[in-house]
Amino acid sequence: MIRFILPKKHFAHTLPKLRAATLRSSRYSQSSKPNRGFLEIQGINPGVVMSFSFAAATIIASASYYFFMDKPDPALIEYNKKLVQIDMGERRLTELDMNFPSFDEESTEPIKGRMEKFVLALQKSLVKNLEILDNTKPFFWDRWEREDSKGYGISCILQDSKIFEKAGVNVSIMQGPLSKQQLESMKSRKQSNTIKDNVDYDFWVAGISTVIHPVNPMAPTVHFNYRYFELTERDDPEQKVVTSWFGGGADLTPSYLFEEDCAHFHQTLKDSCDKHDQSFYPKFKKNCDEYFFIPHRNETRGIGGIFFDDLNDRPKKDLFHFIFDMGFSFHTAYLPLIAKRMNMSYTKENKEWQQIRRGRYVEFNLVNDRGTKFGLHTKGGRTESILMSLPLTARWEYKHSIPLNSSEQKLLDVLKTSREWA
Ligand SMILES: *[C@@H]1O[C@H](CO)[C@@H](O)[C@H](O)[C@H]1NC(C)=O
Ligand SMILES: *[C@@H]1O[C@H](CO)[C@@H](O)[C@H](O)[C@H]1NC(C)=O
Ligand SMILES: *[C@@H]1O[C@H](CO)[C@@H](O)[C@H](O)[C@H]1NC(C)=O
Ligand SMILES: *[C@@H]1O[C@H](CO)[C@@H](O)[C@H](O)[C@H]1NC(C)=O
Repeated sequence: MIRFILPKKHFAHTLPKLRAATLRSSRYSQSSKPNRGFLEIQGINPGVVMSFSFAAATIIASASYYFFMDKPDPALIEYNKKLVQIDMGERRLTELDMNFPSFDEESTEPIKGRMEKFVLALQKSLVKNLEILDNTKPFFWDRWEREDSKGYGISCILQDSKIFEKAGVNVSIMQGPLSKQQLESMKSRKQSNTIKDNVDYDFWVAGISTVIHPVNPMAPTVHFNYRYFELTERDDPEQKVVTSWFGGGADLTPSYLFEEDCAHFHQTLKDSCDKHDQSFYPKFKKNCDEYFFIPHRNETRGIGGIFFDDLNDRPKKDLFHFIFDMGFSFHTAYLPLIAKRMNMSYTKENKEWQQIRRGRYVEFNLVNDRGTKFGLHTKGGRTESILMSLPLTARWEYKHSIPLNSSEQKLLDVLKTSREWA
């Protein structure tokens, strides 16, 4: 039995406002402990910090600057610990850190800066919680910069640990010229009406993307990514934003089906969607089922979730609020599932089945996934990060067969026909 206690009021409203960011500089070298050797400068205006950040990141080659949200006050930390806890039976086993920053309704800061701050904060809190669950070794923080200084990213990886075969939490903030191929891909979607021929465009993008492959075959693989794009005309002296949009989603890929887990995952996503627009979840759920379909196998990759792209039908601030909530509620959607399944016993056959399912995951990502293909075709793309979503191990077995009525078959049945989970 698992209980996941959340306040009636959404967490995003219960925490104190995002306060002045703390600027810290550190070196993400081979050191696995990112917190060593910090230089802290407190009390700087976050707006200044944000605009400074991108410039700094591009100018200073080896040092890295990035932000942390101020911590809520100690009383609130205690309060929030009580709100979110994972129980198994009577015994409390794990206490996660749910001290998320809250959405600042009054902020007038441009979405670009807020988005950058958001992905960094989400990365930090997720990595921390995965480390709490794993409790064996820390994530490896790999900070990179594009050779042309037009962007940076931080890839956090945990590989071959006790609980996670491979977990990656990747953040990147980049800008640059929009290539012909990217332009065509955008035109073929709904951005076509705003994009002119014979004009050169620049893009700006900030995103977070995560894939987690647990060791235990009873624990589901998960993926999510959220991103924000802006386009400007290169020759426009004012650099007015031509168009901007949000995209992303989250989906679950179990090897063994636990219906209550699927329901919990979907319900959490749905609750966060419903807060913003009741039409979001049904639409985005359907998108997800359609997107994560493997045609050559005639099955979906997993049990779905939500997926959307080109979201720009209302004020940017409202959409950012939506993305903000979706991002932080990922903790609630997934972490209880891993906590519940990571210690279950399993057989050699269970592990083999997981490996075969991993093979399908690879097939989808390499053959069908738009993001991976786009990344590999982008000049200067970082192959290592793009392929971060692939599992450490997988297995292809010629004509693998499973007994009728087995738990393996139960999963396959669900992957053949879309189900309503929430
Ligand atoms: C794919 O699976 C569906 C659902 O089981 C089935 O109705 C359909 O005929 C299958 N298509 C092919 C090409 O096998
Ligand atoms: C899993 O088992 C380990 C001991 O093997 C224990 O320390 C940990 O608390 C357990 N975690 C959960 C969430 O059950
Ligand atoms: C992860 O990093 C690569 C660059 O190395 C980038 O292409 C990709 O977009 C990143 N993912 C996100 C969503 O940040
Ligand atoms: C299949 O499983 C169900 C319950 O899980 C059981 O009632 C049924 O008898 C099984 N059928 C066969 C053919 O084994």
